[in-house]
Amino acid sequence: MATQSPKSKASSAEDCNPLTMLAKAHAEQQSMCDLLEKIADGLPGRIDERDCTRAAKFLETNLPAHHRQEENGLFAILAQRMMNQPGIRAILNQLREEHATDEGFAEEIAETLNQIAAGSMPDNPDMLGYMLRGFFENYRRHIHWEDMFLFPMAQEHLNQEDLTIIANRLSGQPRKKN
Ligand SMILES: [Fe+2]
Ligand SMILES: [Fe+2]
Repeated sequence: MATQSPKSKASSAEDCNPLTMLAKAHAEQQSMCDLLEKIADGLPGRIDERDCTRAAKFLETNLPAHHRQEENGLFAILAQRMMNQPGIRAILNQLREEHATDEGFAEEIAETLNQIAAGSMPDNPDMLGYMLRGFFENYRRHIHWEDMFLFPMAQEHLNQEDLTIIANRLSGQPRKKN
């Protein structure tokens, strides 16, 4: 029977850390933002329909799934463990509101991108460009804030048991569709 080296044990423990899992999802979201920027830069003429399909699918599936993972896993446990810390409730509420707002825009953008992929060009490319830029610029800020402040705060305040509970909740969520 094969034995794990200390190094591979350490890396698999890191892979199971829910904060690492969420940070990896953020890296995928950064790529999604880059793709949306590419689409916006190509307007009004040079749009790759496959880019539109890929971006729309991500916005419709991965994005809301990631938000539910954060809210039902990380935010729920953070709210319990840090209930006496001033401001934590406001921070988490703000992030939940941003999720809801971003999902609303993501749905609208995905609908338009699906129409483009089906061969129907937008009536108003400038408006689409404006919507795309507003979305990915805000979303990059959201990711940056979570990476720079929320995840380090979670790493500092949560113990191993908390991280295991979150990891279990994350793995119990519907997996993203590829
Ligand atoms: Fe988030
Ligand atoms: Fe996130």
